[in-house]
Order: sequence, then structure tokens, then C-alpha cells
Amino acid sequence: MSSLTPFARLDGDEFSLVLDLRADAAEPVYFGPSLPMAEDLASLCDVLRRGLHASQPDRPAPRSLLPWAGHGHLCAPSIVVQQNGRPLTLRMPLVAISQREGDLCLQHRDDALGLSVQIELRIAHGGLVEFSTQMQNQGTQPIGLISLASLTLPLPSWATHMVRYAGRWSGEMQQQRLALHQGAITSASYGGRPGFGGGNWVRIETAGTGELHGDALAAHLAWSGDHVLSVECNADGDATLTMAARLEPGEIMLAPGDTFCAPRALVAVSAQGIASLRHAFHAHVLGAVVPDTAASTPRKVHLNSWEALAFDQSLDKLCALADRAAALGIERFVLDDGWFAGRRDDTTSLGDWVADPGIFPEGLDPLIDHVRRSGMDFGLWVEPEMVSPDSALYRAHPDWCLYLPDHPRLTQRNQLVLDLTRPEVSGHLFACLDRLLADHAIAYLKWDHNRDLFPLAGKSHAQVVALYALLDRLRAAHPEVEIETCASGGGRVDLEILERCSRFWASDNNDPFERLQINAGWFDFLPMRIAGNHVGPSPNPITGRQVAMDFRAKVAMFGHMGVEADPGGMSAEDRQCLAAHIALYKQWRDVLHAGRLWRLSPADAGVHALLAMHEGRGIALIAQTRQAATYDEPHIRFPGLEDDALYRVALLPPYCEKAKGQLSQARTYAEGTVLSGRALRLAGISLPLQYPETAWLVSIERGADS
Ligand code: GLA
Repeated sequence: MSSLTPFARLDGDEFSLVLDLRADAAEPVYFGPSLPMAEDLASLCDVLRRGLHASQPDRPAPRSLLPWAGHGHLCAPSIVVQQNGRPLTLRMPLVAISQREGDLCLQHRDDALGLSVQIELRIAHGGLVEFSTQMQNQGTQPIGLISLASLTLPLPSWATHMVRYAGRWSGEMQQQRLALHQGAITSASYGGRPGFGGGNWVRIETAGTGELHGDALAAHLAWSGDHVLSVECNADGDATLTMAARLEPGEIMLAPGDTFCAPRALVAVSAQGIASLRHAFHAHVLGAVVPDTAASTPRKVHLNSWEALAFDQSLDKLCALADRAAALGIERFVLDDGWFAGRRDDTTSLGDWVADPGIFPEGLDPLIDHVRRSGMDFGLWVEPEMVSPDSALYRAHPDWCLYLPDHPRLTQRNQLVLDLTRPEVSGHLFACLDRLLADHAIAYLKWDHNRDLFPLAGKSHAQVVALYALLDRLRAAHPEVEIETCASGGGRVDLEILERCSRFWASDNNDPFERLQINAGWFDFLPMRIAGNHVGPSPNPITGRQVAMDFRAKVAMFGHMGVEADPGGMSAEDRQCLAAHIALYKQWRDVLHAGRLWRLSPADAGVHALLAMHEGRGIALIAQTRQAATYDEPHIRFPGLEDDALYRVALLPPYCEKAKGQLSQARTYAEGTVLSGRALRLAGISLPLQYPETAWLVSIERGADS
């Protein structure tokens, strides 16, 4: 540890973070695009210092990364602790800093209590800043932890708006842009998982921020349990972002010598709009988070049995479904729910992870062999954290679930939650899953989690830690198996679980109109490579909408594509259309999954437009979701290209039946035409987008000579 210097700075390739340490606290005074290394930090901090005003402490408290109660920090404290049932008043100054390249460690300590808090700021892959906060009881008495923020970030003065994500089952990640106002805007989850509204993701921006311009900052709490997020503004005009795991009172008790590590928080900052934040998060996730296995890359096209057969399973039906899947070009067959001991609907059998003898008299292998002979690999659905009261497991071990004595055992989807913190429970689950994976050629597990946790029984934190340990143990034993995280869709998606899972199920809602919106929220942070995106049946079982196959298939290509419908129930034309799009996906998935994702900004808010661009090749989806106000839409313009390079632009067939007759320049687009990046950025192209369900795929390929 070095003794305190008056200032510190952390510099990534494209940003600088400057801290003023002169008031025994770490006060971020600048967080934005890189400043010259020779910048005089004393001068910078002086000119940024706020004015004085009436009605404030005579020595205003710094806007610190670790505000504590009782010191004049007029915002929510970062740390709340208690001893013997009484809240403790702290004095937690910054006592030491240490710095290595790309890493800054800030040590705070309350000498009287013997309590230390360390905040480590590390430059992470993709140019994000990773905040890791931990607290250690260095005293002689136990200390109870009520809350410890993973991130308390005094926001730059440009912060005027936040984009947060609200949601419900089948309607995840709905962006809500709110003007910041005096007081706090908070969101929290209580069901033991982040929830369908991703309150663990947030963007802060200034009034006019757009895709390619303006100040913005994105943050994430990497934690699969409950969280609290708050943006609080005070009368000085200062806004502070706080993110923390939500703990149950009394849950964390630190004995002398114990350490509590808060979940990590990740932050990206940009002065060039939202696209830079998206690119930073995507690079981080692909380069430093999701595991890639031999089976997971390139991402195979799935057929998932859920919306095709649900519980109506027999070996014959499954084999026939697999045959129809293979004929479409599907590469992985996923058996979803309904396959295990007595599971005929969602009222029974969770916990009994053996193949149902009625459906599979000879076990799973005959189906798996059939699937593999058809050239596909095999995936299986499990929901290991749960137990049905009507199951052999529950009958044998009624005390293995999370419960409170003398309280009713309340179910959701007819199921209870297993207490993973008990070693015998986690050990049993490992043994069941290990046996399944050892005995069968299973390439992929869809790991589901279909209920909120209540009561948490004082274990909200420990349950999540135990889940990570179970996943880690299973992955160590079967590193080649790809795991998907699913929680009734996107109810548990975060970068800690994604260190163990190579794909997430973005939503149970496969209606492409809804999916465009839901995916837009996820794609703000997560790359298409890991976002499960399926063609569902029409009418859609959730929304009832009937949607043309062309539209369903084009939308599903922009993610990790799959099919969740029975091809046997489709017309021959629809099957042909679907097969053509599956072939296109295979042809373009290197670009879709490795490329930079740009959101185009058409003037019509009903048009969703995305461009993935990788090493000079690009594919765009331009999808109209409503009837346009005028016959001719404003031109679609493309960012992300080199101005002086020449690109061949073409429309990829098959074309949407409804709109192809409106294409006046059909031959030009079919053959492809050459334009400069500058022309595509400034002038764009004209496409017929008059009616909903109209979607186009545009290919943009840099010429060999440019
Ligand atoms: C959850 C999942 C679905 C499907 C069903 C099966 O709802 O989100 O995709 O797996 O469970 O019961």
C-alpha cells in the first residue's frame, strides 16, 4: 500500500477516471473520454469543485465512492452494519491506495470498529471498469451486514436521464427512459433472482443522447439474486447511482476475520452515444464472460420441443419431430420438459431426474441415438433447483426445500425451491446431473428456474452462492456441455451466471413483434451470439397473433436461432421459407455473432433496424411492425461503415410476399449495387416498408479492392 496521494487516475484505452483523494475519500471528479496524461489534476479538481451555498455542512462532504452515514454525505450510505441488533455509526475514511496497471485499490477503514472496506477498480476486457467491493471484520466482535453497495457512483453533471428496464413474464426488458428528478428512482427484486425487468442493467445519459452521439454510461450488477438499484438526486443537483445485492436482514453476520465480497458491478462510459456502450459490453461478454465450448461455436440451430409438443410426448412423436427438424437443416434437438418420471403436466415430478419409463422404456438413448443419426446433437431441459410436492424426491426429503417452520409451503407453478445451501441437497443434484451427462450423449442443458423464491428463509445470498458452486462443479466435470440459463424466459440473466452459461433464453415470447422489443433491451448489453431467439408457431400461443413465416424467420435470425414449433404443422411453403432462412443464418452467423451491432435510427418508430458488421461484411434486418403513415418511408441509413470504402449492397432472398411487388428497383437489389460507405451513411437506401410484417435482409459487403 502506498500512502495517500492527493489524486489518482485510472486510464483505459478510451476513458479516464480521475479521483480527488484530498478529503480522505475517493471522489470521482471526472469519468469520460481520455484526458491527456499530462493533465494537471489539481487544476482540474479545483475548477470542477462545486460552489458553496446556504444550508450545507461547513465542510461539505466529498461525493465519495463510499459515503457513510454521519459524515454529512447527504445521500444513501454505501454501507449499513449493525452489532448486537443496533445500527453502528461509522467513520470510514480512505486510508490507503495501491495502483498497478489497469487496477486501483482503495482501502477504507474504521479503526474503532476494526472494519475495513476495499473497493477495487479494474479495467476489464472491452474497456469496462469493474468495481469489486469487499468488507472485512478486523475487529473482535461479530458484525451484522445490512447492506453493502457494489457500486456507489457519483454521476457526472451531464446525467439528466436514465434508461431502466421494466418487465413481466413474456415481456422482458422494456426500456423506460425517465428524466432524473430530485429524490430517488429505485427498482429492486424480491424473488431471489433479477427478474423479468432487468433492474440489474441501467443506462444513464444526457437529454439528447442517441445511438452515435452524446454522453452516456451503462452499468450492470453481476448477481443472479435480488438486487436494489437507485439513482438519487439531491438539492445540489448531484445524482448518484447505487447498485447492490439485496440482503435479508440478519443474513450476513461476519465473525472476526470474516470477509464479505459484494457482487461485481461493471460500468462503461461514452461520449459518442449508446453504440459505444453496447460495443464495450458485447466485447466484454464475448471476450471475458461466456464460456465457449467446442459444441457451442458456431451456434447451432435448435429445434426445441416445448411449443411443438409440450407434454404430449412419445418416442415415436419425438423421433418424427427430430426427422422433420433435420430436414429443415436444424443442428440440435432439444427435449424440453415432460421427459422425466411421470411428468405429464406441470404439477408433478420436478426432482425425479430419470427418464419416464412410459415414454422411454429403454431410457433416453434410443431418442438420442436417433437424433444423432440424423446429424444433430442432443440437448435436454432440466430445472434442478426445484421440487414438485408430488415427486419421489419430496416424499423422501420433505425438509430439503426452502421453508419456514410453521409457515405454509407456498407453491408457484406447483413447485417448491430446493435449499441448495444444504450440502446433501447440492450433492444430490450434482449426482443426478452428473449421471445424466455421463450416461448419455448430451451436448446442451437448458437450465430452467420457473418460480420466485419465497420464503427466502434468510438465504437469499447463500442460495445464489450455492447455485454458482453447483454449476461450477458440474462444468468442471463436463466442460464440453453447453448450458443455457432460463428462468421462465429472461428472469435470471446477469454476467455472473453467464460466466457459467453460454446462452440465455431471452423470453418465452416468440411472437416476433414482441421479440423485437424484448431483444432490443437485451442487445443494449448482450450480444446476439448468446441470445436464444426462436421461430414459434402461428398463432402464437402467448399473444394469439398470426404472423407470416417470412417475418418470424427473419426476426429469429438475429440472435442464436432456433425453431420452437412443429414443422409438421406448417404448410409446405412455410417449411421452405423457414429452411431458406436457416440456411441464410448458417451462412451469416459468423457476422451475426462476431460483428458489431448497430441500431439504425429510422424516422418511423415502428421500424426496427439492426446491422451486424464484421470484417467488412454486414447483414441488416429492417422490420416494419405497423402501418406506415406515408407510402414511402424515409431512407434507411447505415452507420458503422468506412466512409471511403465501397460496399456491394443487396437484398437477400427470400423476399416478403407482401412487399416484394412494391420494390421498384428489384433487379438492382437482387444483383447488388456498389455504393460508398459515406453514401450509405448519409443518403441510405429506400425500401418498401408500408405494412406491418414487412422485413428485409440487406447484405453489405466491402469490395476486395477497397
Ligand atoms: C419455462 C421455460 C419454457 C419451457 C417451459 C417448460 O416456462 O421458459 O421455455 O422450457 O418452462 O415447462
